[in-house]
Amino acid sequence: MADSYLPPVSREGHVSLTQQIFQGLRSVILNGTLQQGARLSSWQDLSSQLGVSRGTVKRAYDLLKDENLVETKGSGGTWVAAVLPLSPPPQVAEESKPEGLFYDFEAGPQYFQLGVPAQDEFPAKAWYGAWRQAIATEIVRPQIYPDPRGLASLRREVAGYLATARGVHCLPSQVFITSGFTGALGIVLNVMNLSGKKAFVEEPGFPRTRHALEQAGIETIPAPVDDRGMRIPVEELQAGVDFAIVTPGQQAPLGMTLSPARRQALLKWADDSDAWIIEDDYAGELQLSGHVSQALAADDASGRVFHIGSFSKTLNPGLRLGFLVVPRTLAEKFTAFVGHLAPAGSVVAQQAVQNFMSGGHFFRHLRRMKAVYADRKTVLVETLRRELHPAIRCEFDGALSVRLFLPPGTDDVSIAGVARANDLGVLPLSPWYQRKDSPRGLLLGIANVRRRDVASRCKALSQILSP
Ligand SMILES: Cc1ncc(COP(=O)(O)O)c(C=O)c1O
Repeated sequence: MADSYLPPVSREGHVSLTQQIFQGLRSVILNGTLQQGARLSSWQDLSSQLGVSRGTVKRAYDLLKDENLVETKGSGGTWVAAVLPLSPPPQVAEESKPEGLFYDFEAGPQYFQLGVPAQDEFPAKAWYGAWRQAIATEIVRPQIYPDPRGLASLRREVAGYLATARGVHCLPSQVFITSGFTGALGIVLNVMNLSGKKAFVEEPGFPRTRHALEQAGIETIPAPVDDRGMRIPVEELQAGVDFAIVTPGQQAPLGMTLSPARRQALLKWADDSDAWIIEDDYAGELQLSGHVSQALAADDASGRVFHIGSFSKTLNPGLRLGFLVVPRTLAEKFTAFVGHLAPAGSVVAQQAVQNFMSGGHFFRHLRRMKAVYADRKTVLVETLRRELHPAIRCEFDGALSVRLFLPPGTDDVSIAGVARANDLGVLPLSPWYQRKDSPRGLLLGIANVRRRDVASRCKALSQILSP
């Protein structure tokens, strides 16, 4: 890979241009900025970028070569020498990773990792075909700025999918392709001017959503979740709550669907209070038990609901693709915003997803995965029942997770830390609550559980949990 470092040159002093280029490159090689094995720009490129003759650059490169700082491979190019005469000082500290900002998935999903799809069951062949076709399309597509709302063909596909799978009837002009749920949330907060306002959030609820709202200076008011889902605390209703964020299809993390009465109450609250609802349908189509409910947006007669879906759980979180459906009357306002500030990302990735969907693979994949996940959950629950102390309550309805409840006051954060150090990617339950005296427990993702190793992993977890 060519490293396009440009040494600074000046025509004002007495130092020759050759010496300036030589000294500039020498210092970045010796301080480790240009790493061993990095390729230098060709004489031609560097001379045209610096506005000097090729001979000047060549002489500078010769001086580097005399000091054994670079090596050439015939006429193929010039590289920083693999072995330097003086070893460079230790690199400036590796770029630090901001604590808690990213999902710590870089080492690959751990066992029980929540929030990732099953890697081993991914339909790689169909997916590869969808990408190959997308690249073929890309090569002949005019190189112009694409529609910032997302590819029209993908928005049409998503609108069709939502009508069939989630009961939402919308026009493609209401659909915006976004950088997952997270990107869509940012767009809604901006367009609806919600920064600095008040929001109901589920208690317990997805900590990242709460942190996102806090970033935007939004006051989060806990709305309790019971076995019928989130309940707007009408009796203690603070004036001026502007919106609610809810996971009606599969409550995160407890897994139940919002009951019909609660859905109606939530929509009525929004209507009566001139408030908005953000529906996080991150895995609504992957409900594993009971009747699969339609999206909340399907019942939204008053245009109060922003429906957000994501391909992170159904395809791959690395795609960073999701979709936002806005009420019809607001489509134009959102178009103006995304056009200027938040256009949809890579057209190739969008095209690949569209090919995958229009080829019928997406529906087939979802159907298969529901069966795979249901099987993995059954196996996990059976094994946990065998391996765990009977005093540990285990809940497994609905969601793509199993919840273990630990005695009040247990330090579930430390326990999860120990488990993660042992390659078990469980999450602590308490950070999903805003209140301090939260229930304690662990969340176990089922996606990557396999029959062959589930017993040993549950045994290891049981040992960590035993006093
Ligand atoms: C409750 C909830 N919402 C949304 C998301 C997905 O976010 P994104 O689409 O930005 O990957 C997740 C992923 O873990 C989640 O658990």
